[in-house]
Amino acid sequence: MFNKELYQYFSQTETPFYFYDMGLFNESLKKLKQAAGKYDYLVHYAIKANANDPILKAVKKIGFGADCVSGNEVRKAIETGIKPDKIVFAGVGKSDAEINYAIDKSIFSFNSESIEEIEVINEWGIEKQKIVPVSLRLNPDIDAITHKYLTTGLPENKFGIPLSFLGKVIRRMGDLSNVNLIGLHFHIGSQIRELSPYIQLCEKVNMIQDILFDEYGIELDHINLGGGLGINYENPDDELIPDYANFFDTIHTHLKKRKNQKVHFELGRSVVGQTGSLISRVLYIKKGINKEFMILDAGMTDLIRPALYGAQHKIQNISKPEAQIKNFKYDVVGPVCESSDSFDDNVMLPMTKRGDLVAIRSTGAYGEIMVSQYTLRNKPGAIYSDEIKVKNEKPVFSKERVS
Ligand code: LLP
Repeated sequence: MFNKELYQYFSQTETPFYFYDMGLFNESLKKLKQAAGKYDYLVHYAIKANANDPILKAVKKIGFGADCVSGNEVRKAIETGIKPDKIVFAGVGKSDAEINYAIDKSIFSFNSESIEEIEVINEWGIEKQKIVPVSLRLNPDIDAITHKYLTTGLPENKFGIPLSFLGKVIRRMGDLSNVNLIGLHFHIGSQIRELSPYIQLCEKVNMIQDILFDEYGIELDHINLGGGLGINYENPDDELIPDYANFFDTIHTHLKKRKNQKVHFELGRSVVGQTGSLISRVLYIKKGINKEFMILDAGMTDLIRPALYGAQHKIQNISKPEAQIKNFKYDVVGPVCESSDSFDDNVMLPMTKRGDLVAIRSTGAYGEIMVSQYTLRNKPGAIYSDEIKVKNEKPVFSKERVS
């Protein structure tokens, strides 16, 4: 992924920083558009994964909508030029200010997860004399087979309306004058590497649609199946672009779409995850008892996923040719005063010395966006492959991946 010229550029750059391979990102967007387009599925990029301007601009350019989970994300999507009629707004607890803002902007759908919130949206609708479009986020009770912090579709999760409440919610919504039920929304979790949870989801949706029609005579215009498609963290180079085609083919096979119904998705990680790497310098190789600590200038403030979820990202010493034998074992840690500030234990790498550059791969999603300034550390920088091209007046990014 990093050619020689790129490496040279990195060596002269202050670390840590996120590097985004915009060629790969645009390729990923294109593949996603093709695969979803085959079935007329609509994609709303999940802004929470990465909200950097160049990323959002590319999303807008390809014509995707936005999946937002805060008022500021809605604002950011609109500022990027994404049309409000392509914006969905989810979240278990939207504040009055956020509801107000999104109603004023006439977004496509409030994905709402409780009758309590729908009642508040209705009150604001009355106040503003607007009929507000609402989709019900249901909790389908499906195990997404992922980390427990990344699962959202089980009864113990705070997310969604339990299926057993559906009738009650629909009846109550019938009494509310200023909300319009336009669809159903589901999001069962994130980093889902198997397709079986999605097959189960489709089967549940089919069943729910049957109940809605048979018992209430309701056919909704929109079904939103959320995001969650996972990526290959272990061997990113084997799967730089997820198999979107297989994903959508599977959905198409199992989902009984009603006539004229639109099907929506909210993908984040799968779109942007592999395009980013956190580049860091080795500060010290510190000898411990029976181990060696590789202390980086990047820490948990720059990438919190390992500390928060025990997530493992591939770590590469990009100062060493990839062919070199990886016969040294390091605990790769950050400089922050927390024992959880560790990227991984027992990582096999070539012999590494102070000043070497390290790439922590697959950090395009939920990396930079989750940066904190704990201990008053600086935020990492961000470098985009296509900007380097402009600065140097010649392309340094190459698709020929050296590492
Ligand atoms: N839609 C909703 C309603 C969501 O809550 C999420 C993610 C998505 C879509 C996008 O899911 P994706 O396609 O990116 O899996 N910080 C965690 C991930 C949290 C995901 C939260 N919701 C991590 O670093 O793994």
